[in-house]
Amino acid sequence: MVRYEGKTVITLQVNGELRELAVRPSDLLLDVLREQLGLTAAKPGCKNGDCGACTVIMDGWPAKSCLVLAVEAQGQVILTVEGLGGTAAIQKAFVSENAFQCGYCTSGFLMVCHALQMQHPVMPEEHIVEEWLQSNLCRCTSYQEIRNAVHTMYRLQNTTL
Ligand code: FES
Ligand code: FES
Repeated sequence: MVRYEGKTVITLQVNGELRELAVRPSDLLLDVLREQLGLTAAKPGCKNGDCGACTVIMDGWPAKSCLVLAVEAQGQVILTVEGLGGTAAIQKAFVSENAFQCGYCTSGFLMVCHALQMQHPVMPEEHIVEEWLQSNLCRCTSYQEIRNAVHTMYRLQNTTL
């Protein structure tokens, strides 16, 4: 680890690429992704762990990037919406189910749902879906469209197997 001017040079593995950058010990992963790497899909909302707008996937699990220090994220495989490339089943499902309005929460929900599929390759019971979706807030849609999108995600997955 190289240090200079109060910063530490770290390497993050983001969307399949190794990215080297200088950060302060207190820099949040959310801010580093957005301001240093230009990955703005993860959104700042509450910055308190409550809304989920900042959700990314770390080592296969959803993580609120406002609660993670960039230095803590070293060695973990980080995935953001940009890394989905527009072709993931959950992205198609959100479009087909109209599961967004203003879209501010959408990136976070996409990451939660994509991680759900990573951890549960077969559609889990409804109460498990509910538990996963409870981590994030949406102020526009009814949550039903988002639940529908999860079902569609699994259907799309089955048709492409
Ligand atoms: S901005 Fe991270 S949970 Fe709200
Ligand atoms: S679509 Fe607007 S906050 Fe969710």
